[in-house]
Amino acid sequence: MRMIFLGPPGVGKGTHAQEAGEHYGIPKISTGDILREEIKNDSELGKKAQEYMNAGGLVPDDLIIETLKSRISRDDCIEGFILDGFPRTLEQAEALESISEIELVVNFNLSYGGIMQRLGGRLTCRKCEAIYHVKNNPPKREGLCDLCSSELYVREDQKPEVIETRLKTYERETKPLIDYYRKKNLLVDFNAEGEVKDVSERLIKLIDKNLNQ
Ligand code: AP5
Repeated sequence: MRMIFLGPPGVGKGTHAQEAGEHYGIPKISTGDILREEIKNDSELGKKAQEYMNAGGLVPDDLIIETLKSRISRDDCIEGFILDGFPRTLEQAEALESISEIELVVNFNLSYGGIMQRLGGRLTCRKCEAIYHVKNNPPKREGLCDLCSSELYVREDQKPEVIETRLKTYERETKPLIDYYRKKNLLVDFNAEGEVKDVSERLIKLIDKNLNQ
């Protein structure tokens, strides 16, 4: 089961990739999470990526394609995976074709207001990258991750001016992938409006229907 979750920043890809991954027993692979981990570790990749990420731009294709290739080759991906945040450019999509065969692309849709509301209240775990929201999906203990008890923080790229740049980057670089995958007959549209539980249930039904589970 090899899937891509596509959509603008803040639409809920990470949250629902985590839930769907647990449901199907396959890993969620978030290139954003991988890059944030590299930044935390002060690696060469992290140093190169940080500037692009904080400005709301994209990390260069060659760096991210190599990163993804190495992640997908790990044993936990044998039964499949959910890609969250990859591919983001046509070059990445074309490179992915020679790395792995994709069975389904879910295109998440949400209003601009919905995106801003979700990104405005997001909290992320410093250690395990679990995602929360101050109102929509609060942690059980304020400021602490339910899963690993580490501190929650507000991502650098959540500043309003950076969100605007990220949305423009999405429109310019990533939105063309909708047509790319639609032409390949791999894409299904998904209305991501609604509460986490409701959206997750509808998402699983949609995936089951399209992958004939
Ligand atoms: P990345 O981390 O991938 O960020 P993104 O794609 O911009 O998406 P977000 O993580 O902001 O949002 P999301 O859709 O996952 O929503 P979430 O689940 O968090 O990338 C960050 C940066 O890394 C990029 O800008 C780029 O620089 C770089 N990068 C990464 N991949 C790259 C690539 N392939 N190529 C080049 N550069 C790359 O949800 C948002 C909030 O809403 C949360 O608070 C959540 O609790 C809440 N929420 C979620 N679902 C619901 C719901 N159903 N109801 C109510 N609230 C909800």
